[in-house]
Amino acid sequence: MPKLLVLSGRDLEELLRPDILIGEIEKAFVSYSSGLTVTPPRTVMWVEGNWWGVMQSYVPGYGVGVKVVNVVPANVERGLPTIQAVVNLFDPHTGTPLAVMEGGVLTALRTGAASAVSAKHMAPEPGGPVAIIGTGYQARYQLRFVSHVYKTEEVRAYDVREEAVESFRRYAEQLGFRVSKCRSPREAVEGASVVIEASTTRTPVIEGAYLSSPAHVISIGAHVRDARALDDDVVRRAEVVVVDSREAVMLETGDIRIPVEAGLLSMDRVYELGEVASGRRPGRLTREGVTVFKSVGLAIQDAAAAAAAYRLALERGMGRFVEL
Ligand SMILES: NC(=O)c1ccc[n+]([C@@H]2O[C@H](COP(=O)([O-])OP(=O)(O)OC[C@H]3O[C@@H](n4cnc5c(N)ncnc54)[C@H](O)[C@@H]3O)[C@@H](O)[C@H]2O)c1
Repeated sequence: MPKLLVLSGRDLEELLRPDILIGEIEKAFVSYSSGLTVTPPRTVMWVEGNWWGVMQSYVPGYGVGVKVVNVVPANVERGLPTIQAVVNLFDPHTGTPLAVMEGGVLTALRTGAASAVSAKHMAPEPGGPVAIIGTGYQARYQLRFVSHVYKTEEVRAYDVREEAVESFRRYAEQLGFRVSKCRSPREAVEGASVVIEASTTRTPVIEGAYLSSPAHVISIGAHVRDARALDDDVVRRAEVVVVDSREAVMLETGDIRIPVEAGLLSMDRVYELGEVASGRRPGRLTREGVTVFKSVGLAIQDAAAAAAAYRLALERGMGRFVEL
């Protein structure tokens, strides 16, 4: 019988450090945008008002990954994570199941790594303040990964929940950042060089009018068709708009779909992260410009991160084998 390696969230935190994972995720995006992966759009269903997704992909050199994930925003009040998931990894040649791993931490790690890839290619000169709007679970990973490539000391944080900002402040100060708690998105965003949106909002929290030049906006929230985290002016002001997948953002976020359908944004001007990472498209045109990276999350990120974790766990003797 095949033996399955089980990896916990704690194992993944230890294995998938920013210096390793950012490079792996960058390679996976290049493969995706070169047409080398097999990545059908995720299957989405709604259960009791909550979003569930099944995300499957084959990434050459990594493996086949399948993630079952849900987003339950009301879990914030239950003291449970908003996002819970399990990821399975398979051998692409034999089809053998290789590993099962905790998916909430994996998702946060690979999402942070994608944002870091965007910052590497699109952010202005390092050293400017970083603003974070929505300071829940993802925000911590966004800060850790983005600051790995965009060096900064100053972080400005805003959330509609005071306790979320306070707990984020303590976390970020432990990492050595100087943190200001802001009373509005505008206060956080004005003067920031990198702006990260990691909230569960359904209506715009970042307005183009708040942005300074230069700035790089990273938005990971608003992952359903009609939801938006960015207003029209953000897209209007952007000299470059980059997405994880043109196909996925048109299906899954109002942030790109709505301005495209309204004629405000032409798809010719929307590049993929993998195209930018491979040098086929520019991530930034001018020193003073505003750039935008919008991600909804792709199965290639899960497959690549899971395969990297599996390889490293075998090398280091981590995890626990179970017989099926
Ligand atoms: N793009 C991706 O690959 C990807 C991956 C994982 C999660 N996400 C998305 O990231 C978002 C955050 O997820 P999480 O796990 O951190 O959830 P979370 O519930 O832990 O944190 C979300 C935070 O947003 C805050 N918030 C809600 N509305 C707000 C508003 N209008 N202004 C400011 N703050 C607001 C909430 O108070 C909460 O603290 C979700 O939308 C999730 O779907 C995207």
